[in-house]
Amino acid sequence: MSERAKFATRLGVITATVGSAVGLGNIWRFPYESGMNGGAAFIFVYIACVFVMGIPVVVAEFIIGRGTHKNVSGAIKTLSPGGKWHLIGWGSIVASLMILGFYSVVCGWIMDYLFAALRGGLHGNSADFAKMLTSLSGSAWRAPMWTVIFLFVNFYIIQRGVQRGVEKAANLLMPILFVLLIAFCVNSLMLPGAGQGLKFLFSPDFSKITPDVVIEAMGQAFFSLSLGLSCLLTYSSYFSDKARLVRSASIIAVLDTLVAILAGVMIFPAVFSFGVAPQGGPKLVFEVLPAIFQQMPGGYVWAVLFFLLMFFAALTSTISMSEISISFFCEEYGFSRAKASMLSTTIALVLGVLCALSFGVLSGCKLMGMTLFELFDYVSSNILLPLGGMFFSLFVGWRVERRIVDSQLTNNGTVNVRTRRVLLVCIRYIAPAAIFVVMVFGLLK
Ligand code: TRP
Repeated sequence: MSERAKFATRLGVITATVGSAVGLGNIWRFPYESGMNGGAAFIFVYIACVFVMGIPVVVAEFIIGRGTHKNVSGAIKTLSPGGKWHLIGWGSIVASLMILGFYSVVCGWIMDYLFAALRGGLHGNSADFAKMLTSLSGSAWRAPMWTVIFLFVNFYIIQRGVQRGVEKAANLLMPILFVLLIAFCVNSLMLPGAGQGLKFLFSPDFSKITPDVVIEAMGQAFFSLSLGLSCLLTYSSYFSDKARLVRSASIIAVLDTLVAILAGVMIFPAVFSFGVAPQGGPKLVFEVLPAIFQQMPGGYVWAVLFFLLMFFAALTSTISMSEISISFFCEEYGFSRAKASMLSTTIALVLGVLCALSFGVLSGCKLMGMTLFELFDYVSSNILLPLGGMFFSLFVGWRVERRIVDSQLTNNGTVNVRTRRVLLVCIRYIAPAAIFVVMVFGLLK
């Protein structure tokens, strides 16, 4: 690559990174994690994690990426010449492919639902949809088939490159998704018994906060913000030197959290109104959503629109996950974009199909009591992402020259960042220490 790609516009910077952050993490994972971990108490800790660890780590990744305009490994080599820290890059690649693997399974479910919606086949109540999902996820061919199809769509876009694929799609679709979510929230709030769902979401019982809940909330914050895997680092390497890092980080964190909360307001009133157990786990959203659409006027259109937009939201996230390994293989090993895309897609295909089968044929294969899908989800979000985040913030806080950090934060002294001091304290001490404490208590209990 002679000249490195860049996002074309300022809006592109925000929509592409928000496109990465907003995905199944908000609309599928956040509700199911909240449901399993006690609702409001979990959400409270989650929001605290977004501010105490999330924003500082986003800024740390941005400083490394935009400061060097390189992939993760190249960036670390540039900022810390001669050291071995760049090997972290490999960790990012492995973890990103693991996530891509299990994430594609859920994307596959979305596609199956989208086609069912298009055929007008989403009829019944939440119990029927529970059966529908069990038969889909347990199928030895349907779930893996959709996973494979999804990864091919993803492949098609990623091999075309940064600007043409990612930026355009994100610019158009993210705002539509947002408006649609609001419509669904309004609808859910009008369901009989909606109040119970709101209470579950917003009235915290602090006695429910256990080390488990805290580590899950931290994992969710990292997952939802696309943090710790050098995903935002890679995207920020395509930012122009005029992009404002702190402002962008705050916008991303606020929008991402808002979308997650909206998803909660869309799902939980319905969960309680339909008498579904909130602890339903990864399948929860798929049981409740179609039932919501059904009792709205024009339900057919709502269902199709929703699954279509979810598909695109998920796609902008998987594109960003793929970009980590693509930029790495292209820049460090001189691969062509096509070859790098093929390599990462092939690995993701293997992992994805195994994860897809782990609800059916492979459901008996368990490691530490978890199926492969659950294991990838748990290990990546609750362990690898926070570890990565801790590394990036320590690296920026202690290893990168202060001059570079300052010039990145303030765009060479041209913008005044009032929160600079606080932010630096968070990056150096508070975020890494908090991550460490949560991990020690959460994992060694
Ligand atoms: N944040 C995305 C979501 O909420 C998922 C995602 C994209 C991600 N890139 C990532 C998660 C990098 C961890 C790391 O759906």
